[in-house]
Amino acid sequence: MPGVLAGKAVVVTGAGRGLGEAYARLAAAEGASVVVNDVDTTVAASVAASIGALADDSDIATWAGAGRLIDTCRQAYGRIDGLVNNAGLFRLADPREQDPDEFRRVVEVNLLGTAHCGLHAIRAMLAQGSGSVVNVTSGAQAGTAALAAYGASKGGVASLTWCWAADLAGTGVRVNAVSPNAHTRMAEAFERHLGDRARGQNVGKSAASNAPAVIHLLSDAAAGVSGQVVRIDGDELSLVTPPRQAASVRMSQWTVAAVADAFAGDLGRHR
Ligand SMILES: NC(=O)c1ccc[n+]([C@@H]2O[C@H](COP(=O)([O-])OP(=O)(O)OC[C@H]3O[C@@H](n4cnc5c(N)ncnc54)[C@H](O)[C@@H]3O)[C@@H](O)[C@H]2O)c1
Repeated sequence: MPGVLAGKAVVVTGAGRGLGEAYARLAAAEGASVVVNDVDTTVAASVAASIGALADDSDIATWAGAGRLIDTCRQAYGRIDGLVNNAGLFRLADPREQDPDEFRRVVEVNLLGTAHCGLHAIRAMLAQGSGSVVNVTSGAQAGTAALAAYGASKGGVASLTWCWAADLAGTGVRVNAVSPNAHTRMAEAFERHLGDRARGQNVGKSAASNAPAVIHLLSDAAAGVSGQVVRIDGDELSLVTPPRQAASVRMSQWTVAAVADAFAGDLGRHR
């Protein structure tokens, strides 16, 4: 039986370990020609060698690095059918002490890196008439203490996904995202930070258990699927909707006092 990605060329960023490695492994097992990208050269080479893939150590946070990566795939395999924008940086900080350079780096890798790789790939995919981009967001986008830079960057990735899907509707190029959960070094760093408050919510969830959803979104079986953010949480798969108005009240002429009344009344009940 040919795999669901037979004949496809797929780039996975940050694939030297953790979730990205699991996506690259299943993509290769499903027949894709894979480029394993990771800024950590050693792990990229090791994963690539073990699955017969090509290694690339470009820093996807830069426009030039992202361009080199997408070119590497096209030169080696003649096309690019799939891009998994998985590379990510996780930093914890209290806003009273957060280093602005660190905030910038998180946004550069998580949001701009996703945009850079996506823009290079989408242009090549449009020329081909087909392609699938899978971005990676996080539940932290909804607001988690100590994760402002990370959560904001991942909220940006979700918005990027919905915007690009709207831009590319009807072109054959699809854009979706996953919001994964796995017990990787990133999850361990968060648990260490939480200390006694850690709930072990990622314990027992393997990186590999997140891969089937990503591989489905890359495959032709998902031909009609675009603009979706898919949350994977152990045995549960769900869709994350764009932010919506949760409550509304109307007033012909708003005053400061009327806004205060609204918060004390209908809006207050939805806070
Ligand atoms: N682990 C979870 O439960 C979880 C939850 C939500 C979202 N995510 C997201 O999933 C993705 C993978 O997470 P993980 O837990 O496997 O993390 P990880 O830290 O184990 O792996 C991330 C990889 O990205 C690489 N990388 C970092 N910056 C890079 C750059 N500029 N260019 C190329 N490669 C770079 C790292 O070297 C590393 O190998 C991340 O985007 C993360 O935010 C993870």
